[in-house]
Order: sequence, then structure tokens, then C-alpha cells
Amino acid sequence: MVSMDPGYQIEFAQLRESEFSRLDSLGQAYLDYTGGGLYAESQVTKHLEYLKRNVPGNPHSHNPSSERNAIVIDETRKKVLRFFNAEENEYSVIFTSNAIGGLKLVGESYPFQPKSIYVLTADNHNSVNGIREFASRKGAEVVYIPLDENLRVECVEAHLKETDGPSLFAYPAQSNFSGVQHQLEWIEAAHSKGYDVILDAAAYAPTSGLDLGIIRPDFVPVSFYKMFGYPTGTGALIVRKGALEKLERPWFSGGTIDLVTTKFVSHIMSSGTARFEDGTPDYLGIPAVGIGLDFLAGVGVNKIHAHVISLTSLLLSELEGLEYGNGKPLVRIYGPKGVDARGGTVAFNVTTPSGNVVDPRVVGERALRNNVSIRTGCFCNPGAVEYALNYAPDREKNCYDRLTPSRFVTEDYVECMDADSSGAVRASLGIASNERDVERLVEVIGSFKGLVPTEAEQTLLPPLRC
Ligand SMILES: Cc1ncc(COP(=O)(O)O)c(C=O)c1O
Repeated sequence: MVSMDPGYQIEFAQLRESEFSRLDSLGQAYLDYTGGGLYAESQVTKHLEYLKRNVPGNPHSHNPSSERNAIVIDETRKKVLRFFNAEENEYSVIFTSNAIGGLKLVGESYPFQPKSIYVLTADNHNSVNGIREFASRKGAEVVYIPLDENLRVECVEAHLKETDGPSLFAYPAQSNFSGVQHQLEWIEAAHSKGYDVILDAAAYAPTSGLDLGIIRPDFVPVSFYKMFGYPTGTGALIVRKGALEKLERPWFSGGTIDLVTTKFVSHIMSSGTARFEDGTPDYLGIPAVGIGLDFLAGVGVNKIHAHVISLTSLLLSELEGLEYGNGKPLVRIYGPKGVDARGGTVAFNVTTPSGNVVDPRVVGERALRNNVSIRTGCFCNPGAVEYALNYAPDREKNCYDRLTPSRFVTEDYVECMDADSSGAVRASLGIASNERDVERLVEVIGSFKGLVPTEAEQTLLPPLRC
């Protein structure tokens, strides 16, 4: 077990009481931080105070309330940069609705052309996978980097081929499936070969410090609700100014334009970040971003990391320790079993005494009945699932060809694949987690030892989607 300063433990216990007591009053064991973070009570109170004391107006208007609000939005941009230690003359902040919003901006605006290459790790969220559609439509080559048996990546450099056209390399700083933290050194390796880099920090930023004064990716998407729970609907694309200049927006809209004419058809885009922020920003929510960043910085992201890693170590060892009377393990963990270079997200499946996988949705149902919040499925990361569950690519192609002429049903695909499972169970820890939350999950998982899945558990399953 990772040793932790006992002072931290007291601090986090106090924090749970002062800021997250609703978890205990509702009897909730919340272990879905990679799905969504939790807000501290004080964040909401401070935001409410702000709303009560101000008359925030649309920042695109020109009147006293909008002027004041435009200043708050600008201050929040600066706060985002300070939080990530990014220099104002090097990076800009584009407010988006979430991390996907930032990724789509890059995908649709990146100047892919036939000489371009889009290189990405197999471990990626679907919104990073989806950029391959923009790339291939413009004739770019798409290259996937495979994962090893621990769901890590080896020899990234070997996959970054020489390129003559604008090329992109994309990977998550932390996997939303396995919790693996991929190497930040890859950014400079990719730069030295002429690639721009998307570092998807959506799953990493809530519990790990990202220092943009030290590592310099070109595009960094984040979702603020994952970092500090509130507000939902606001994220950011933190972008290097040099890389921003390369992007070509495929359209214009309200808020992104300085001049549009209709009799003579022409337009002039706004400069800087304004040309990437379509329409009215979430001007009531953005002040809450500043409050959330202050809260995280006040607790200290490094302390949060140490807290989460200590609990992750406990969770991993407890899950690994669960076994049947015949000595067979109850749980199969995907990804690293230790806490080196990883965050607080753990993917696993429950197995039967003969080694078959219990449908993760059944595990999810049982957790739900015990007021334990986890997530099951593939978490929009099909690449990690394919490697974790050893899907064979030839078989995938056969099943795809066989099933796509009819209406596609994921269950049929999984059956055709003769796959062990349709995905996994994911537990993820965060700022308010404690040992009791971990124990409660381990109790639910341990209950499969004596209690086989009931018929009700197996029939009332939600549909599969990936
Ligand atoms: C690594 C990663 N990237 C991107 C996203 C997309 O985030 P959002 O849905 O908030 O846009 C997620 C969401 O879980 C994620 O974990």
C-alpha cells in the first residue's frame, strides 16, 4: 500500500464532512469520478452569491452588465492558464461546452491534406477516434498505435513516421478505461518529428497536475465538471498560439465573425480565440469555473493525487485478494495492477469459478441496488476494450460485414465475436473518496462469491452501447 501522510487523511476526512456530507447523508458510495466529478458545497454557495450580487449580461452586448461579465470571463481565461501554469503569451483558452467540443474544433479545423498523418493510440476516447473521419475525408493517413498486455504503449517513436504534411498525434494523458497515465515525454518526441499534439487531459486533470510550463502540447481539451463537478456544460480547449494559427474553421456563426456581407458574399473572421467560440458563451456558468479552479488549487492537486492513489492501491489489492474456495480469482483487472504511472481509475470484470466473465451490467445492477455508483460498458473507449478482452481483428471484420446489412444491434456483435464480455466494470476515485467507499464496492464484488446473478439481475439489463 502506498504510504500517505496521516495529516492528508485527516484533511480529506474533514473535507468529506465539510464539503461532501451529502454523500453520507444519502448513503452513497460514489465511485464514478471519471464519469463526473463532485462539486464542493462551497463552490455552489459562492456561485449563488455571485449570481445574487450581480446582473450578468450577454458579453456580446455593449452595456454595463455585459461589460462587467466580459471582464469576469476574461479573468477566468487567465485563471485557467494560471491553473495549468501556461504562459499567457504562449497559450490561449477557448471556452467550449466540454472536452468533446474542443476536440471537434481541432478535428474540423486542422489542415489535414493527402500528405498528412493522423497518429493516435488505440487507447483513446471516441471523440479522439472520431477525428479520424475529418482526417481521412481530406485524404490523410490514419495510424493506430497498439497497446501491450498492461494496456500501455511501447515505442511510440516508431509509429511517428516522417511526414511532409501537417500531421497530428493524439493520446490521453490518462486512460478513461484503465487509468494508465501515458508518458508526457512523447509530446516533445512528436514535435521533433513535425507533429502537432493533442493531449486529451479530460480524465487526467481532475486528480493530476499538468504543468504547461514544462510540457508543451498544442491542444489540451478538458471538461470542468470532471475536474470539480460544477458547472456542467463548460469545458476548454487550451491551445498553443502557434497551433491556433494553423486551424481553419469550416464555417462562421454568431460571435466568431467581424464582418459578413450578403449582397456581395464575403466574410471576415474574428481574430484569436473569438473565431472558435460559436454563439453566446455559458456566461452564467463561466464564473463558477473560476470558483472551482480556486477550490481545487486550494486543496492542492498533488495532495488530491496522493489521496486518490493511496485509495487506488487499496482497491487494487482488495480486488486482487478476492478468490473462490477453489483458489480461482473472482476479479480480472485490466491494465496495471500497481500504482506506478496511473491514476485512480480501475477497470475489471467479475469472473465465475470456471473463469467466465459475468456480464458487467449484472455487476452494475447489483452495485446500483447497494447505492454504489460505478460505471459499466466500454466508456466510449472501444480500443482499450479490444485490447483488454483480446478481440481478434479478423473476427471483428467478419462480424462487422455479417451484421451491418441489417439494423445493427451491439448484443449480436458481441455474440458474433464470441467475446468474453461486452466491456468492463469501472471504478474511479476522486477528491471526496474514502476507504469506506472502497470497502462498499469490494463488498458488492465479493458478494458474487456466494450469490450467483439472479434472474432479475440478468433480465433487466440496459442495452449495450459502445
Ligand atoms: C479521456 C476522455 N476524453 C474525452 C472525454 C469526453 O468528455 P466530455 O463528454 O465531457 O466532452 C472523456 C469523457 O469521459 C474522457 O474520459
